[in-house]
Amino acid sequence: MKFIKLLLLLFVIQTQAQQGGMWIPSLLNGMNETEMKNLGMKISADDIYSVNHSSLKDAVPHFNGGCTSEVISPKGLILTNHHCGFDAIQNHSSTEHDYLTDGFWAMKMEDELPNENLVVTFIVSINDVTTQVLDGVALITSEAEKQKKIQENMTKVSASFPKEAWQENKVRTFFEGNQYILFVTETFKDVRLVGAPPSLIGKFGSDTDNWVWPRHTGDFSMFRIYADKNNHPTTYSKDNIPYTPKHFLPVSLDGIQEDDFTMVMGYPGKTQEYLPSFAVAQIVNETNPAKIEIRDAALKVQDGFMRKDNAIKIQYASKYAGVANYWKKWIGESQGLKKSNAIGIKQNFEKDFQQKVITAGKQNEYGNLLAEFGKNYTEITPYAVSRDYFSEVVAKNTELLSLGYKLYQLEQVFATKGEQAFNDRKENLIKSQEDFFKDFNKNVDEKVFEQLIALYGNKAPKQFLPASLINADYKKLTTLIYSKSKLVDYAKFKTLLSGDSKSVLKKLNADKGYAFVKSLADNYNKNVAPKYDEINLKITALQRTYMKAQLELYPNSRIFPDANSTLRVTYGKVKGYAPKDATYYNPVTYLDGVMEKYVPGDYEFDVPKKLIELYNNKDYGQYADNGKLPVCFIGTNHTTGGNSGSPAVDAEGNLIGLNFDRVWEGTMSDIHYDPSICRNVMVDMRYVLFIVDKFAGAKHLVDEMKLVHPKKK
Ligand code: ARG
Ligand code: GLU
Repeated sequence: MKFIKLLLLLFVIQTQAQQGGMWIPSLLNGMNETEMKNLGMKISADDIYSVNHSSLKDAVPHFNGGCTSEVISPKGLILTNHHCGFDAIQNHSSTEHDYLTDGFWAMKMEDELPNENLVVTFIVSINDVTTQVLDGVALITSEAEKQKKIQENMTKVSASFPKEAWQENKVRTFFEGNQYILFVTETFKDVRLVGAPPSLIGKFGSDTDNWVWPRHTGDFSMFRIYADKNNHPTTYSKDNIPYTPKHFLPVSLDGIQEDDFTMVMGYPGKTQEYLPSFAVAQIVNETNPAKIEIRDAALKVQDGFMRKDNAIKIQYASKYAGVANYWKKWIGESQGLKKSNAIGIKQNFEKDFQQKVITAGKQNEYGNLLAEFGKNYTEITPYAVSRDYFSEVVAKNTELLSLGYKLYQLEQVFATKGEQAFNDRKENLIKSQEDFFKDFNKNVDEKVFEQLIALYGNKAPKQFLPASLINADYKKLTTLIYSKSKLVDYAKFKTLLSGDSKSVLKKLNADKGYAFVKSLADNYNKNVAPKYDEINLKITALQRTYMKAQLELYPNSRIFPDANSTLRVTYGKVKGYAPKDATYYNPVTYLDGVMEKYVPGDYEFDVPKKLIELYNNKDYGQYADNGKLPVCFIGTNHTTGGNSGSPAVDAEGNLIGLNFDRVWEGTMSDIHYDPSICRNVMVDMRYVLFIVDKFAGAKHLVDEMKLVHPKKK
């Protein structure tokens, strides 16, 4: 009995251990490939990444630097999330044709809509250049000088590494400065909008359902890449032709079942999986609570106004969603870190690490690392918290202050770069702030200001605050600024910025709102930033050494480099999870669930009439699974922000889903991945095809794709 239990335990550890991690596609041979095959993968590492023949990586471009997309037809059709295409969809919308509300479908190629400043970037090759970048660095003792030399070396390799005229070289660091990789890339600049569902499908459930499972969002949109006559990247021209990809993903109509193999490829932005326990404690106990409290206050004010006034609701919907997204993520992250005992797990690891250092006789090199971390994290904490207060209150969540902060930077541009640079930036600001003021409501922001500035004065570390902010009469201060400052309306703002630098700066400094921002920013730059930067530089150096030590002392561990917006592969299985006692979440949702959530007229949960009709008639075409229409599913793939729009493929590399979120209980995976509750959320491709074909009547797009039946061979 005992033996069987042990075996079972080993088995559980084994299968769990095979999950998590964001791996470099060119380095999958060996351990990863073996794990993937054990999980059910039928293709090889060479099918995923190769420089000699087309491979999966050729179908997965970075979408405008922040999201991921995938090529799904031989004519350059690409798929990404609705929330990734949101700006493009919004830019083409007006009151006459509101594509956010109604959706948009180009019925022929001539109708596809060009987008200024929208690019997609393919990876041509991945090359290790560590030796070149670290050349001559070890001899330098000063950390700042080291960094300078590294930068110089990076510029040198970038300039000399062979590439074609239409390609670019980019060097990125991995394992916190222990490895450097050069990417040869191709960036296409003519990317046109092909289709998007109405927001009631693409954003169904909106903020209430954001980060939440069970989920029923059709979070997708489609674009097409155009190239010049040689199939090379170029800027927009009506003579450009649809791009012929090196590879495109076939789409599976057979869908998924629990325990099926899944792999997600994309561009995850940032993770911090190798922090010491001190850093995680700082996040859980100090910085996350402060940031959450600030956003909580701002969101409550905005929500109060939005519920009472429809015009304000429209003005603030997108801003609200932006602020709420990470607010909600941090709450989930903190809870998950506590519940999974992440700090305790890290502390245990650190004990083991310390022991390993001694066993390996490496005390000189690594013996003091953890003690040094402890000392520096204690020292940096008040500065880190102050930095977050400044950033959340001034730079991000109070509109008057964030506008004032842009002007503060303008004043600094004058001081460092002179009149011409000042004028260029000023003109840009005048132009760009027109949109800002369209969605600005003075009454809303005034209330936000009053709340946030009080939090700043009462809760941020006092020793770094200007005296004027501690125990101030926040109400009086607020009324004074919002009645006197010119930063509250576009016309006044323009008068403030008219004239040459001398007169503008004079007017600015006489403005009550600006003067207030300036006092906060000057104070921050004097009392917080320099010390923060100084300690942070030390922590960065420690983290690099800690990473090096882990790679050396744990040669057989599954250590992957933290996400850094470069192409990665993560794999796992379709899998439900138990979010709390006595509850198990199934891994697949269906259209029936959309109808269960349906609230007529609600801005988050209304359902388009046509979709209700299709549901009532069970008119699902070839996209149903046993009479039901799948909508979303979850898996154990390790993803983060930036993986939005990433393809989820099956064991043979066919597209089965489109990644767009994670489950709330597992958002801590950026810091501590726990395979028992961390799940990524994907739209089922059959729902995407159903919406395109049956709902939008854009069957010609489905006809462009290669539909396959891998399970019915
Ligand atoms: N949580 C997802 C991500 O981090 C989706 C965000 C967009 N949706 C929203 N309701 N704000 O980007
Ligand atoms: N929605 C996120 C994005 O825009 C992906 C969700 C996550 O953070 O995992 O990239």
